[in-house]
Amino acid sequence: MYKVSGMLGLLVVFRAVGIVLASSYNLSEQCYFDPLPSILPSTDNRTIPWGEPTIQYANGTTCCSSLDELRYQMDIIDAQLLQILSTREAHVREATRFKATIANINDPSRIAQVIQGAVDAAPAVHLPQIVAQLVYESIINSSMLFEGCIFNTYEPADPVDRIQVMNKIGEHVLRPE
Ligand SMILES: *[C@@H]1O[C@H](CO)[C@@H](O)[C@H](O)[C@H]1NC(C)=O
Ligand SMILES: *[C@@H]1O[C@H](CO)[C@@H](O)[C@H](O)[C@H]1NC(C)=O
Ligand SMILES: *[C@@H]1O[C@H](CO)[C@@H](O)[C@H](O)[C@H]1NC(C)=O
Ligand SMILES: *[C@@H]1O[C@H](CO)[C@@H](O)[C@H](O)[C@H]1NC(C)=O
Repeated sequence: MYKVSGMLGLLVVFRAVGIVLASSYNLSEQCYFDPLPSILPSTDNRTIPWGEPTIQYANGTTCCSSLDELRYQMDIIDAQLLQILSTREAHVREATRFKATIANINDPSRIAQVIQGAVDAAPAVHLPQIVAQLVYESIINSSMLFEGCIFNTYEPADPVDRIQVMNKIGEHVLRPE
């Protein structure tokens, strides 16, 4: 986390040097909030890596000294995200069992609640709100497509119904429009 006292010390120094440095630190903090600050695109061509590393792991090491090292870490995180999404979609599939009609899959007030909840909770975990907003929208939009597919492909356990369903699917496959 941030070294607050150090930061305040820096701000005092910056105030003496000029307010620009202090406000540029605060400006990047604004990237965690929606709306994003509206600033002209930079025309800089910087020597890389620029700035200071911003990640320190629990074991005391600083991340990262190369793009390859960062990508290695992100691959590990992405594998974890995939596992978490799989668990979430398993629950989405179960939720479909409690929807009587295909129309019940779309519940706008619940959707708004989930997305707004993520956006509101984002700053507390230092997640950019714009990422929370769009990722949760994508999770919900794609989950509704998945739920629709689960609803439509339901095969009743009753053997007679099951044969009728299989025939229907067979007809569709054999005689597409
Ligand atoms: C700028 O950032 C510092 C450090 O996070 C904070 O203490 C200070 O209140 C901020 N100033 C403004 C004007 O937002
Ligand atoms: C940025 O600077 C490097 C090194 O001088 C140069 O090779 C590169 O073409 C520059 N890129 C742009 C977009 O100006
Ligand atoms: C410190 O933690 C990071 C992230 O978990 C890990 O990739 C790295 O290998 C660790 N370094 C040491 C020296 O234990
Ligand atoms: C999700 O779907 C809604 C409603 O169709 C749409 O307005 C929104 O742009 C979509 N979001 C994403 C991230 O695709």
